[in-house]
Amino acid sequence: MGIFSSTPSNVLVQPRNTPGAPSTAWAVLTGSTTGIGRDIAHELCSRGFNVVIHGRNEGRLEELAKTLQADHGVRVVTLLLDASTAFNPESYSQTRAAVAELESLNVRVLVNNVGTGHAPEGFKPFDRQTAQDVSTVLNVNVAFMTHLTHALLPALKKSAGGPKDPSFVVNAGSLADMGLPYAAVYAGTKGYMRAFSLALDTELHAEGAHVHVVASIIGDTDSDGHHVGVNLFTPSSRDMARMVVQSAAASGGGVVLPYRLHSLQEWMCALQPYWMLRAGMGMHMKALVEKYAKTK
Ligand SMILES: NC(=O)c1ccc[n+]([C@@H]2O[C@H](COP(=O)([O-])OP(=O)(O)OC[C@H]3O[C@@H](n4cnc5c(N)ncnc54)[C@H](OP(=O)(O)O)[C@@H]3O)[C@@H](O)[C@H]2O)c1
Repeated sequence: MGIFSSTPSNVLVQPRNTPGAPSTAWAVLTGSTTGIGRDIAHELCSRGFNVVIHGRNEGRLEELAKTLQADHGVRVVTLLLDASTAFNPESYSQTRAAVAELESLNVRVLVNNVGTGHAPEGFKPFDRQTAQDVSTVLNVNVAFMTHLTHALLPALKKSAGGPKDPSFVVNAGSLADMGLPYAAVYAGTKGYMRAFSLALDTELHAEGAHVHVVASIIGDTDSDGHHVGVNLFTPSSRDMARMVVQSAAASGGGVVLPYRLHSLQEWMCALQPYWMLRAGMGMHMKALVEKYAKTK
């Protein structure tokens, strides 16, 4: 528990209004059908949250909804949207209308988890990515989370319980934001996510709004979309999900690294002069890309 227990009224610690009574608190979670997102859904439900789970695959969403209800006895709503197109000009109004239906819920937490472009088998030199690859990563990782946060911020502000019981926006960032080669667009979107989170958190604080924005910087994690195996530096998606929620709960907003050994990796990179980091990262990623190319 640690620092976490020093903020007992924080919604991420205890969402139930009255002990024993069903919770009225809702969390909206994107990209929740597999990987870290699915495990964050379980983590939040185990803490008593009702959840809005988002995905693009109706079958997977329905199946997860049933499992969450059966395992945790919470209420679950599904939000079916393809994040790569949902906020395009043609679908914008329809998507805003779908999101507006969530505003009547007591939305206390938004987790912008959906992300693409991080599967090692998809890493490629920038000029070998198609225009479609580039647009998909920009739309899913940047446009979707920005517009969704824009749409839900009024509800998050309204439901916030005061300085000791803020609402939360938790954004799934990545250590790739240091400038991961062969994943330049992905790295750039995660850099955006870090800056966006910090800017919005600072702005909301200045405005006296009780909404904390957290950039949760995730390093290598074994997940459905990133099968790399669990080891000391690579936790399972289940463990990462628990650490994401715990570290957000303990934070007062800003940037957090949920896993200590990922902080160590970031620190070791920051200590190196740029020429050394560039040579090391370039060599490592080039070898990885060549290895995956041979398996095709
Ligand atoms: N795993 C890592 O090592 C790692 C490291 C750093 C940061 N992160 C970040 O953590 C987050 C989760 O990663 P993960 O490894 O758990 O990912 P994942 O296993 O690939 O899961 C991604 C989720 O997003 C959904 N999704 C993808 N594209 C979508 C779209 N166009 N519309 C709607 N839903 C879509 C997927 O749904 P489908 O089931 O339909 O595909 C899935 O539920 C991402 O933001 C990622 O960038 C991960």
